[in-house]
Amino acid sequence: MAYLTTQPYKGTRDFFPEDMRFREAMFAVMHRVVRQYGFDQIDAPIIEPVDLYLAKTSEEIVGQQIYSFKDRGDRLVAIRPEMTPTVARMVAARFQETPKPVRWYSIPNVWRYEQPGKGRLREHWQLNCDIFGAASEKLADLELLNLAVDLLRGYGATGQHFKVYLSHRSILNGVLGGELKLPPEKWPNVARIMDKRAKVKPEAYSAMLEAEGVTALQKAELDFFLLEKLDYLKKKYHLEGAEYVIELMQALETLGLGEFIEYDPGVVRGFDYYTGLVFEVFDNHPDNRRSLFGGGRYNNLVGAFGKETLNAVGFGMGDVTLEDFLRTHKLLEDQPRRVELYIAVLDEKLATHALQLAAQLRQRGKTCEISLGAAKLGKQFQEAEKKQIARVIILGEDEVASSVYTVKTLATGEQLKLKAEEI
Ligand code: HAM
Repeated sequence: MAYLTTQPYKGTRDFFPEDMRFREAMFAVMHRVVRQYGFDQIDAPIIEPVDLYLAKTSEEIVGQQIYSFKDRGDRLVAIRPEMTPTVARMVAARFQETPKPVRWYSIPNVWRYEQPGKGRLREHWQLNCDIFGAASEKLADLELLNLAVDLLRGYGATGQHFKVYLSHRSILNGVLGGELKLPPEKWPNVARIMDKRAKVKPEAYSAMLEAEGVTALQKAELDFFLLEKLDYLKKKYHLEGAEYVIELMQALETLGLGEFIEYDPGVVRGFDYYTGLVFEVFDNHPDNRRSLFGGGRYNNLVGAFGKETLNAVGFGMGDVTLEDFLRTHKLLEDQPRRVELYIAVLDEKLATHALQLAAQLRQRGKTCEISLGAAKLGKQFQEAEKKQIARVIILGEDEVASSVYTVKTLATGEQLKLKAEEI
């Protein structure tokens, strides 16, 4: 008989206890930092009508990466490839009664049919933080960028470990359309080539641009734009978004965030819904130089659900890339089990007493396991040790009679005689 496989579905992970402990430790920092910023947690179903993604998510995701199927009622549904359309839907659903600005976060699992590789899987968990309806978009952008930095600082990371690169959607459009005078239908391809610039040889980069009909003169302008960075913007103040980015960078400097954040005109994010600020957070480590997470401003998504609209800015931070980052820099390591006590039972007749003692200890907030069988004492000690339990309570006839227990610390061998309420 052929056995069933024990492997999980391609590109997904089982979370064994040690994996769960690591994940929970990662999430604990997220909850703590995000709540310090006043964010409320939300959640939603993993399945949505596929229409939700057709209008606004990127062509790559809808065309190639979405998990979709017909349900038994003939509705075409999708497993969420991202959370943003759902969050926008929920904001629109409670538009009137929710106090603005809205600060919501969630840690959903999301699914994309990708070729699995380092930092890229088919299911990942993604911290989403979004602010809707701020009277000042600039303040909301600053607050969100500060949160992005503080999240990584929450794990002990510093400016040496990561950098946030930001840009503005309008600037790129203004350069491609206004300065290079390229027709709008060429913009997406040229942007995609720009995105590849750091990953290919200069000749290959030039060849790709040439194939798109970009002339040498146009390429020279593009080079100025990409290399001179803020200086280019200062010269081209008329470009939509230029003044905004210059002011944003000045404010970030004043906030002491200058060392973490840089303007990089090469930041091109894949989603169609971004309308202003866009940013990507990069790992500085040479072995792991990749985008950790990203986000941006999307002012038109809530308006898709009704006539009321709200501006919005947010980001999504994936657990896979974050774990790589934390492990590469040794910022978070494997987490030990945290069971404090093990009750070893000398004789099975005493099992009821062991259960009573365990109940008493748990009532007082202690964590404890008890021996669940008639193994010899040595075996029970081994079990406690394998399970990383720090202390063993030994329960024999004398202990039951006197209600005084021997508590042994495994690491040191130290033994104490204690009453139940003293343990
Ligand atoms: P995204 O850039 O597609 O943006 O994903 C955000 C983050 O999720 C990535 O930077 C990465 O950490 C993680 N991620 C994405 N795809 C994968 C994958 N296949 N495997 C592992 N990790 C992955 C969004 O999804 C936007 N909805 C974020 C957002 C929220 N924008 C505004 N609010």
